[in-house]
Amino acid sequence: MGTVIRSGESMCRKMTHFINPANDLIIVELGAGDGVITKFILNRMSKDAQLFVFEINTELCDVIVKIKDNRMILINDSAENMMFHLTKYGISEVDTIISAIPFLVLPDDLTKKILDISKSLLKTGGTYIQMHYVKNVKKMYKNIFGNVHTYFVPVNIPPGYVFRCIKVSE
Ligand SMILES: C[S@@+](CC[C@H](N)C(=O)[O-])C[C@H]1O[C@@H](n2cnc3c(N)ncnc32)[C@H](O)[C@@H]1O
Repeated sequence: MGTVIRSGESMCRKMTHFINPANDLIIVELGAGDGVITKFILNRMSKDAQLFVFEINTELCDVIVKIKDNRMILINDSAENMMFHLTKYGISEVDTIISAIPFLVLPDDLTKKILDISKSLLKTGGTYIQMHYVKNVKKMYKNIFGNVHTYFVPVNIPPGYVFRCIKVSE
C-alpha cells in the first residue's frame, strides 16, 4: 500500500485540482486504493470523459467496483500494463494521469518503467500528478518529464506533497 491511511480530503482535492473538465476527456488513475481519490476525480470530470482506474489489489478493486459510474473503467492489474489495456479500449493518448502508487517501495526499474509508459501515453501538454510523503523525490520526476511543480499538503495524515509534471516533448 505505501501507507495504512487513505488520503484525506485536502490531498484528494489537491490531486484533482488540476483536472480541466473542458479538456481532460481521458483520465487515468494509478493506485486507486479503495477509490477515495477516484470519487473526487469523477466529481471533477465532464459527463463525456472516461476514467481508467488501475489497482493491483483485488480486494480493493472489490471496494472500488461499488462506485457506480459508467464513466469509470476499473482494471485490476499493475500500471506497468496500462498500455496493453488502454490499447484494447482504442486509447492511444491520455490527457491526465493521477497516481498514488507508492514508488518508494517499488523496485527502481518498475518505477521507471511505469513513469516512462505514463509519459509516452500522455498527449503533449498533458499532466502527470503524483503524491508522496517526502519531497526529495522531485528529481526523479524532473529527470523524466523535464519539469515538476511541488505542492505541500499539510492537512493530511501524514502531511504530503503533490508533484505536477507537464509533458512538453517525447
Ligand atoms: C498509498 S495507496 C493509495 C490509495 C488511495 N489512492 C489513496 O490516496 O488513499 C497506493 C495504492 O497503489 C496500489 N498499487 C501499488 N502498486 C501498484 C501498481 N504497480 N499498479 C497499480 N496499483 C498499484 C496499492 O495496491 C495501493 O492501493
